[in-house]
Amino acid sequence: MCGIIGMISNRDVAEHLIEGLKKLEYRGYDSAGFGVLNDRGFVVSKEVGRVAVLEPRSSEAQDAKIGIAHTRWATHGQPTQINAHPHVSQNGRFMIVHNGIIENYSVLREYLSKHDFKFKSDTDSEVIAQLIAHEYKNNTMQAVREALSRLKGTFGLLILDREDPGSLVAVRQGSPLVIGIGDEEYFAASDISALVQHTRQVVYLNDGEIAELTLSGYRVSNFADVTVVNEPTEIDWEIEEIEKGGYEHFMLKEIFEQPQSLKQTMAGRIIPDEGSVKLGGITAIEEDTLRRLNRVIISSCGTSWHAGLIGEYVIEELARLNVEVEYASEFRYRNPVMGADDLVILISQSGETADTLAALREATSRGAHVMGVCNVVGSTIAREAGMGVYTHAGPEIGVASTKAFITQVAVLVMLGMDWGRLKGHLSNDQTCDLVEQFNAVPDLVRNVCDQSDTIQAIAGEYADCRNFLYLGRGVNFPVALEGALKLKEISYIHAEGYPAAEMKHGPIALIDENMPVVVIATQDPVYEKVISNIQEIRARQGRVIAVATEGDKEIRQHSDHVIYVPEVNPIFSPIVNVVPLQLLAYHIAVLRGCDIDKPRNLAKSVTVE
Ligand code: G6P
Repeated sequence: MCGIIGMISNRDVAEHLIEGLKKLEYRGYDSAGFGVLNDRGFVVSKEVGRVAVLEPRSSEAQDAKIGIAHTRWATHGQPTQINAHPHVSQNGRFMIVHNGIIENYSVLREYLSKHDFKFKSDTDSEVIAQLIAHEYKNNTMQAVREALSRLKGTFGLLILDREDPGSLVAVRQGSPLVIGIGDEEYFAASDISALVQHTRQVVYLNDGEIAELTLSGYRVSNFADVTVVNEPTEIDWEIEEIEKGGYEHFMLKEIFEQPQSLKQTMAGRIIPDEGSVKLGGITAIEEDTLRRLNRVIISSCGTSWHAGLIGEYVIEELARLNVEVEYASEFRYRNPVMGADDLVILISQSGETADTLAALREATSRGAHVMGVCNVVGSTIAREAGMGVYTHAGPEIGVASTKAFITQVAVLVMLGMDWGRLKGHLSNDQTCDLVEQFNAVPDLVRNVCDQSDTIQAIAGEYADCRNFLYLGRGVNFPVALEGALKLKEISYIHAEGYPAAEMKHGPIALIDENMPVVVIATQDPVYEKVISNIQEIRARQGRVIAVATEGDKEIRQHSDHVIYVPEVNPIFSPIVNVVPLQLLAYHIAVLRGCDIDKPRNLAKSVTVE
C-alpha cells in the first residue's frame, strides 16, 4: 500500500518523480504528492485524487535535482490534502514520505506535543518528520537513527534534509524498498516498476537497512551504522510490459496475455518430449523429505488464497499429500502445530503482502520447510523463502489479479505432477500423458479469450444487477470464489461464491427472478450433480449463466446463457474456466463506468496488516 519514489540527479527531478509515481499508483491512489528541494528551499505539492492531478512543471519546482514523492492508500487519517505526503517537520527542515504504519504514533505524538511540536495532519507518518527534527543535534544521520530506534511498526521511508541538498536517505523496515543505480543518478522506490525507465541495475534493501544516496554513489548500512554490502541485480522487465499496449485497460491486456504468461510459467519446466516436469528452484526438497512430509500448508491472501484452494485439490489428487489452506492473516496469529515434517507454501503475486510475509516468518521460526510461489522476482517473500518457483507471469498492473492467478495455479499443478511422480502415485506414462495435455492449456485459454465479444453481450443484460451468486464444485469451487471476487472488486456488485451443493443451506433463499447465478458446469465427475443444482435455481426463477464444455447442447435447456469453454482434463479446468468469469466481471464493470484498473478502496500490494 502506498508507493514512494525518490531521486537525486543532475536532471530536473519533478517530472520524473511524477512519472515514477504513475507506475506505482496501483499501490494506492486516494491522494498523491511530491516534494523537491532547490535553491529556494522545499517545494511541496499534494492533492486529493490521482497522480495525474499533480503539476510537475510549476515554476517553483524547476531546477530541483533532488526530491521525493508518494501515492497514498489511507491508513491513518482520511484522504485529504493535508494528510497527503510529503510531510515536513514543524521547523521546515526535514521532509519525509512513508509507506507503512507507525504503530506507536499516538504515544510519540503525545510525547512530541509535550515538546511543543504542533501537528498539521491526522496521519501516523507526520510523527517521523517531527521526531527527526526533535532528535537533531548536529548530524542528520544520527538524528535519523535516533528516530528509528523509537519507531515501532513498518516503514519504507525517504527523507530529505533542507540543509543538505546532496543527500537522500532511504530506510526499510517491513515495507519494500529498492535502490536504482542510474548514470550519475540514484533512485529509491517501493518497487522496480517505477525504475525500469531509468535503469536496469537495482539493489534490494533488507529490513533494518538504511541507504544514503548522493550524486557520487550510495552507502547501505544497518541501523547500528555498520556498512552492509548488497550486490546489485539486473531487472529483466521490459518497459512495454508495464504499458497498456493499445488496450483500454491493464486488466483486459493482462487477461489477453494469459496464454503467453502460462507459456512463460511452463517454459523449461514442462518437457513434453521427456514427459517430465523440472522445477529447478525447489530441489532443496529432497525426495526423502517429500516422502516424510506430514502436511503441506498453503498460506496466502485474496486471489492468491483462491489459487491455494485449487492447489489443495490438485496436489491431493496428483501427489496424495495432505494439504491445508490458510488465510495468511489468520495463520500468523494462530498457534499452529507445525514442524520439520511440514512444508509451508506462501503464494504471493507481489511477494510483499504483509500477512503472507508474516506467515512465512512464523513457519520458518517453527522449523517448517518454506517455499515461495511469487511473481515479482527479488521480492521479499521470494528472497526470504530461500526456495520456490517464480510464476513468470510478467508485471501485473491491474489491481484485480488475472494472469498472476492463472500462473499460480499452473505452478501448483506442476508441483502436483512433479511430486505425484516422485512419490510414485503417478506412473511415468501417466505423467507423460498429463504433461502433454497440460502443454496444450495455453492455447485453450486463448480460445476462451476469443469469446470476449460474446461475453460482453451477456454482460449487457446483467450490468444493472445488484447481486450475483457464483457456484462451482470440486476443483471449480475456488473458481466460483474467484469469479465472485473479480466482480465485486471492479464492479462493486455484491457477489458470493459457493460450493454448488451448499446453496441449499442458505443462499437458495436469495434466489428469485432478479438473481443471476453463474454456474461452472463443465464436464467432470460432478457434472450431473451440478445440473441438479441448476434445476433447483431454475425452479425458483433464478437466471442461470452456465460455463459449459463445448459440445454440451443439453445445458442450453437449463440455462439462460451458456459460455462454452474447450474440453480439458478436469484437473486443469480451473485455468480455463476462470477466464470467462474474468471477462464477465470486466465487461460488466466497463458498462457500469467503473475505474477498472484502480477500483475504489483497493490496492494491489497490501504491505500493511
Ligand atoms: C490485494 C490485491 C489482490 C491480491 C492480494 C494478495 O488484495 O488487490 O489482487 O490477490 O492483495 O496479493 P499478493 O501479492 O500476495 O498475491
